[in-house]
This record gives sequence, structure tokens and C-alpha cells, in this order.
Amino acid sequence: MSARTRAMPRRSCLSVPGSSERFLEKAPSVPADMTFLDLEDSVAPLEKVEARQKVAKAVRELPWDDRVLCVRVNAWDTKWTYGDVIEVVSSAGERLDEVMLPKVQSAAEVVALDLLLTQIEQNVGLGQGHIGIEAQIETTRGLINVEEICAASPRMEAIIFGPADFAASMEMPVLTGGVQIPEYPGDHFHYVFSKILMAGRANGLQVIDGPFLKVREPDAFRDFCQRTRVLGYDGKWALHPDQVTILNEIFSPTQDQFDHAWAILDAYKEATENERKGAVMFGDEMIDEASRKMAIKFVTRGERAGLERSEP
Ligand code: GLV
Ligand code: MG
Repeated sequence: MSARTRAMPRRSCLSVPGSSERFLEKAPSVPADMTFLDLEDSVAPLEKVEARQKVAKAVRELPWDDRVLCVRVNAWDTKWTYGDVIEVVSSAGERLDEVMLPKVQSAAEVVALDLLLTQIEQNVGLGQGHIGIEAQIETTRGLINVEEICAASPRMEAIIFGPADFAASMEMPVLTGGVQIPEYPGDHFHYVFSKILMAGRANGLQVIDGPFLKVREPDAFRDFCQRTRVLGYDGKWALHPDQVTILNEIFSPTQDQFDHAWAILDAYKEATENERKGAVMFGDEMIDEASRKMAIKFVTRGERAGLERSEP
């Protein structure tokens, strides 16, 4: 539910095609922080309507742990969105945490989904606000409006970059979205990543990077993940279980970082509360309130990843 999952980890977000019973059945055994059952681009148009019940049944009946569980519906510029939302949310039951809306172009699209969810929640007896929303930014118009989109509804939990559709929307001369372009001097998505991250953080959202399509290239994937991890993203999509393992490692702090962050918090507490100083030396560096804020992020992420502080 929205309140339950807002702060839960999303280091690894596994995409599962909603039309495939085989993939659906396997999904609970893949240790992703978040799993979304897809009705959109991994499902063929002729399978879309039938996939709704497969997905709802999978949410109700499969042995999910307490991970974030989501269904991606089709975008508002198709004929399927309202049917996807009504049919899945009405019959999936309480275990469904969120709906993911792809190709969001404006805040109004999030508001429309929010209103529809409010009526369904009333009719099927889910608490108001039970279902959270994740929105994908994957068109040029969506990127231009990302700030309003992030602020469009209290249901919003995460904002996601969709590199494949975005490359198509930009008309970039590439045939694989979401991978490095060696001829470009720098990171061709740097501006996009930063803009989405700022809009998400300004509205208290988690910020997630989308898919890396070369699923048979784990080293390139590992390398590529560093770009959004270093900027501060919370996690990234996985299209295959092997990518989940890599993401859970890369988007967690190391034990050293975790212990170091705790030591900063202790030193800062001692300085401010006992010595009544705002800034103090910690080893070779000066620490202050900004250092505390940075350290808190490592501690929270480490705790989410199950780390415990080493004995001093
Ligand atoms: C994901 O949906 C993408 O288009 O990259
Ligand atoms: Mg897409």
C-alpha cells in the first residue's frame, strides 16, 4: 500500500511480462526489492486483455514476500488504460501496492489515474490511498513536465526514467536504448538523469533508472549502473534475475561506507550536543550539518540492505 511501500528499497525493480504464466510463477523466487507485472510493452497487443486476469491472479495467489508489488498498465494514449486499471485493481486484492503509469506526458495523466483509483478503492473496499503510483518519464514532453508530474498526486511514490522509449521520442540515431553511445563525448543522458532526479527529490519521491537491454552483458550492465548510482538514484530495472543480483549489490552501501557514515553521525552528535559546536574536525575533514545529511542517506540505505554496524 502507498504508506507501506513509500520508503521501501527499490534497488532492483524486476520487470515480468504479464502474459507469461511461466515468468509470473518464477517471479516471487527472484530476490528483487520491487517487482512489476507488465501489461504494457512486453505484452503483445493480442494478449493484453487476457493478461489482465493472469496478472491479478498472480498478485492474489503467488507467494510474494513483503517486496513492493506493482502492475504496469498501458499508457493513456492507448485504448487499454482504464480497462487495465479497473480490472486489475478490482480483482488483485490488498497485496497490490502500486500501479505504474508509462509514457506520462503531463500531470493531468497522473491526476486521471488517481481519480480512477479513488473510485475503485471505494467500490472494492480498499482503504483510500492504498494504491501508490510510479510514473515513467520516457517522452520529451514528459521530461519537460517532470516537475509537475512528480507533484501531481500524494499517491506518487517513484519517478522512473525509460531510456528506450525516450531515445525513440528524441529521435536519437540509436537502435538500442539505455546503453552507452561511445561516439558521444560524455554521457548523452546526463541532463535527463539530473533533471528527473531533482524533480523526484524535490517532491520526496524515489528515483529509478530504467532497463539496460543488453541482458547478456553483465559487465557492461555493472559498469552502466554506476552512472545513476553515483548521481543518487535509488535503483534500476532488471530484465533478468542475473541483473537483480548485480543491482542489489551496486545500489547498497559497502560495509566500510556504512560504518564510516555511522562514525560521522556519532562525531557530529557529540560535537553539537555535548560540545555545542556546529562544525568539528573528523579525521582530516571538517564535518557539519550537511555531512550529517549525507551520512543519514548511507545509514538508511545500508539498513534497508540489511547491514549492521561493525563492532568498533
Ligand atoms: C522502459 O519502459 C523504456 O522505455 O526504457
Ligand atoms: Mg517504455
